[in-house]
Amino acid sequence: MSFPTTRMRRLRRTETLRRMTREHVLRRDDFILPLFVVEGRGVREPVESMPGVFRHSVDQLVDEAKRVVDVGVPAVLLFGVPAQKDARGSGADAPDGIVQQAVAALKSEVSDLCVMTDVCLCEYTDHGHCGLVEDGEVVNDPSVERLAATAVSHAQAGADVVAPSDMMDGRVAVIRAALDDGGFDAIPILAYAAKFASAFYGPFRDAAESTPQFGDRRAYQMDPPNRREALREMELDWAEGADALMVKPALPYLDILAEARQRFDVPLAAYHVSGEYAMVKAAAERGWIDGDRILDESLLAIKRAGADWILTYAAADVAARLPA
Ligand code: PBG
Repeated sequence: MSFPTTRMRRLRRTETLRRMTREHVLRRDDFILPLFVVEGRGVREPVESMPGVFRHSVDQLVDEAKRVVDVGVPAVLLFGVPAQKDARGSGADAPDGIVQQAVAALKSEVSDLCVMTDVCLCEYTDHGHCGLVEDGEVVNDPSVERLAATAVSHAQAGADVVAPSDMMDGRVAVIRAALDDGGFDAIPILAYAAKFASAFYGPFRDAAESTPQFGDRRAYQMDPPNRREALREMELDWAEGADALMVKPALPYLDILAEARQRFDVPLAAYHVSGEYAMVKAAAERGWIDGDRILDESLLAIKRAGADWILTYAAADVAARLPA
């Protein structure tokens, strides 16, 4: 059947019909809000390149998390910004480290909040790489041991989900075994499985003070042109025991997300990263675009491509304006 019998516009005629015909909608439960935690008290420091994003000390983080839960966002992802850094990233698995303190406070003071932690060394190492460095190279297997210790320490502090973002080989299996040995067989792993060496992380590195002091991350994060390799990374993390798989960044990599949706029957997450967020905010500040509508449309596109979970700095703002 074709025109004039078929008229696609019939079901677009009224808002009610459009609502009824809508194939995808954003829900508050889709969102995970990344949060940065710093040392000190009473700190609520704006991140210049990410309007609306702050670095909070633990006490302020608790208040922020309460606001987040009030607008219906179910989960946060914590990034620690420690005062001290060293070559092995000792702060990452310190029992009284910044993230460990934050997790404990959130779990005791904010009921029902799902607390996820980013498991990586880059915020804790003085060289800013995601693993240990020997002779100018990021070495895989010793880094994985440090990451596993970090994941266990987050679980000990009370984390609900651990999310390794380092892109070392084999880390999901080693983290899974370490969690199980430590009595944390119930704690899921959200693996940053297909994480690309992206220029879109720029603003984040200012916020987290995690810019590599030499070189870049291209020897461990993925090369942006590679789709088949991304699916293999996801397959491997799944086989190693990941409970959910992430694609990161989101909008420039929706092809990978859509393909992963076809292949894997696990929850998929997509990270709308700092640069994606900053571009929208910057253009909106100039009055060049409608920032709210662009964010809604972007996040919806991520959902349509196949994401179950969307990590976004706009989570609380978008959730607050979703219909009840
Ligand atoms: C740490 C990490 C990064 C991001 C999340 N975890 C930075 C990086 O890999 O350099 C980026 C998040 C964002 O840009 O919003 N490995």
